[in-house]
Amino acid sequence: METNKRLEQIRERQKRLEDNMKRIKHKIAILSGKGGVGKTTVAVNMAVALAEEGFKVALLDLDLHGPNVPRMLGLHDSPTIQNGFIVPVRYGPNMSVLSMGILVEEAQSIAWRGPLKHSAIQQFLADALWEDLDFMIFDLPPGTGDEAMSLMQLVKLDGVVLVTTPQRVAVDDVLRTMQFVQEMGQEVLGFVNNMAYLVCPHCGNRIDIFGEDASTTLSELIGLECLATVPLEPKLVKMLDAGKNAIMHMRGSEIERAFRQLVSSLIAKVWRDER
Ligand SMILES: Nc1ncnc2c1ncn2[C@@H]1O[C@H](COP(=O)(O)OP(=O)(O)OP(=O)(O)O)[C@@H](O)[C@H]1O
Ligand SMILES: [Mg+2]
Repeated sequence: METNKRLEQIRERQKRLEDNMKRIKHKIAILSGKGGVGKTTVAVNMAVALAEEGFKVALLDLDLHGPNVPRMLGLHDSPTIQNGFIVPVRYGPNMSVLSMGILVEEAQSIAWRGPLKHSAIQQFLADALWEDLDFMIFDLPPGTGDEAMSLMQLVKLDGVVLVTTPQRVAVDDVLRTMQFVQEMGQEVLGFVNNMAYLVCPHCGNRIDIFGEDASTTLSELIGLECLATVPLEPKLVKMLDAGKNAIMHMRGSEIERAFRQLVSSLIAKVWRDER
């Protein structure tokens, strides 16, 4: 009897998850081989840029150990609960956000085992009140761990955007991650070449830290489309630490342009006259 009830609950959750996902037109995950290459930075700026373009966007932070999205967006509100369902936190009129970082207190650590992570991700997808959306962006921790695996088992994505820096060692990890994504039956849409060059703060000239053709070399090595080349912008670190994204707070900058370029490339890839 107990088992039947449990099975019924699992079926109901699966049904809610499927119904929720059907109402979201495009689902894009941000992933990398290496840690600290800029996934969350890309996810946050991409989501804000899409929302500014008028799309209905949700940003779902699936980095359960290190949820950095709330800090980068300067979010302090906790999600409310309505009839047992989580209400995602709003960020402007077109965007909503959900993250472990706003569900548990800052600096509180949780010991996650694989099955627990899977269940948390299922709850985010099934038991949150998601509205009808144009895009859901998933921020993932680095590598091919439980979070990426659970997401890719539970949701058919439009695809994955891989983030990398241009060093060969980072590229090696991208190749491994690409293989993982394909083995999970999902598509890689392209890559973002992050921290690729520096704009000199004195003369404004571009300094190609990794050589002029880093993007081309990367494309050739990886065999993937470069969706955007993003400069290394020292000011960005402080801005994001203070909850200020580049789209709204660094208007007219090279870095804002780079993230908008990424969004244009992605829209061209996934959007098929559905508006
Ligand atoms: N283009 C950039 N210019 C300058 N700083 C950047 C850039 N991209 C990211 N950063 C900074 O690098 C640090 C790491 O970025 P971020 O947290 O986005 O990486 P991540 O890949 O999500 O890391 P993790 O693997 O831990 O989740 C942050 O302090 C961020 O502000
Ligand atoms: Mg991150």
